[in-house]
Amino acid sequence: MINKENIVEIENLSIHYKMKNCTLKAINNVSLNIKKGKITALVGESGCGKTTLSTGIINCITSPGEIVAGEIKFFDDDEVINVEKLNAKEINAFRWEKVSMVFQGAQSSLNPLMTIEKQFMETMRVHRKKITKQEMLDKIYEVLKIVNLDADRILKMYPHELSGGMKQRVMIAFSLLLDPKLIILDEPTTALDVITQDYIFSILLKINREMNISMLLLTHDIGVVANYSDYVAVMYAGQVMEYGPVEEIFDDKIHPYTRGLINSTPSLIADLNTMKSIEGMPPNLLNLPTGCPFNPRCKRKNEICEKENPCLSNINNEHYFRCHLKLEDLRNEGNN
Ligand SMILES: Nc1ncnc2c1ncn2[C@@H]1O[C@H](COP(=O)(O)OP(=O)(O)OP(=O)(O)O)[C@@H](O)[C@H]1O
Ligand SMILES: [Mg+2]
Repeated sequence: MINKENIVEIENLSIHYKMKNCTLKAINNVSLNIKKGKITALVGESGCGKTTLSTGIINCITSPGEIVAGEIKFFDDDEVINVEKLNAKEINAFRWEKVSMVFQGAQSSLNPLMTIEKQFMETMRVHRKKITKQEMLDKIYEVLKIVNLDADRILKMYPHELSGGMKQRVMIAFSLLLDPKLIILDEPTTALDVITQDYIFSILLKINREMNISMLLLTHDIGVVANYSDYVAVMYAGQVMEYGPVEEIFDDKIHPYTRGLINSTPSLIADLNTMKSIEGMPPNLLNLPTGCPFNPRCKRKNEICEKENPCLSNINNEHYFRCHLKLEDLRNEGNN
């Protein structure tokens, strides 16, 4: 039976970068569902594995990375695709037609020597062999309109003639070209000012809500999670530590790392004196600590945390966390 609720289901996924003398365990035993029609955020500190997990979802991990365990299932209207089993040709079609990804720093992936029109045309021609020039132009005008860009003006331009925000809107238009069901956006507004950031997100929300395209949003910014996503997965050292609906996670944050991340974020309304940073540094993924990877930084750890990595526990059928401590104790910690 086709799953109607999730567009992607990831089960026990591990992705390692195997180098000459060592193995970097970037993703370790991740299970996660991405809800159809919703915006799911992946949040966590730099190096926690957001990009690796997302490139895993489209089976495009850069060498020397590889999927060493687990499954990724993609659910379309009437089919289930086992993404980790796709061959190179199938991956290429899957990547644009089912899922498209706007990569981190994508603005610099525009070719500086080609007009925007030529770049759009080339991408379309590779994927739609029989398409006519007029059909291509119609589609290009349509996607540029969605991101509020004037096609007559933009198409003649070279990348250096566009502002950072315009380039990012061009990249979002690219991601829509082949009508994907899911768009992955890797830090889409990190290099942009706050007003441009808000504008880009208003466009993304419109695409999500009006065109019913699911989104996976990668960010290290907890404010972006709070303002623009429906679900959030909090990542730490290649694992998902907590997952659930955004409002519930902010109201009832369970995992000590989630609490640390939210409490260390400056807020316009909260007293700055209540802000606390998380002491210590994320672990070296070449040499992960035994037990829970967060244990060296966790103030509540006990013996078992240094010995065994906890399994996922659930609070309800949407809210999960990975911690040895009892739920009541974790909630009490929040009142201290
Ligand atoms: N090609 C690669 N070869 C070896 N290690 C890699 C490679 N790409 C990523 N890594 C390592 O995998 C880990 C996860 O990196 P990843 O880029 O997925 O994290 P991230 O959460 O996206 O970080 P950021 O917020 O900085 O973008 C890091 O330790 C990184 O150094
Ligand atoms: Mg990244």
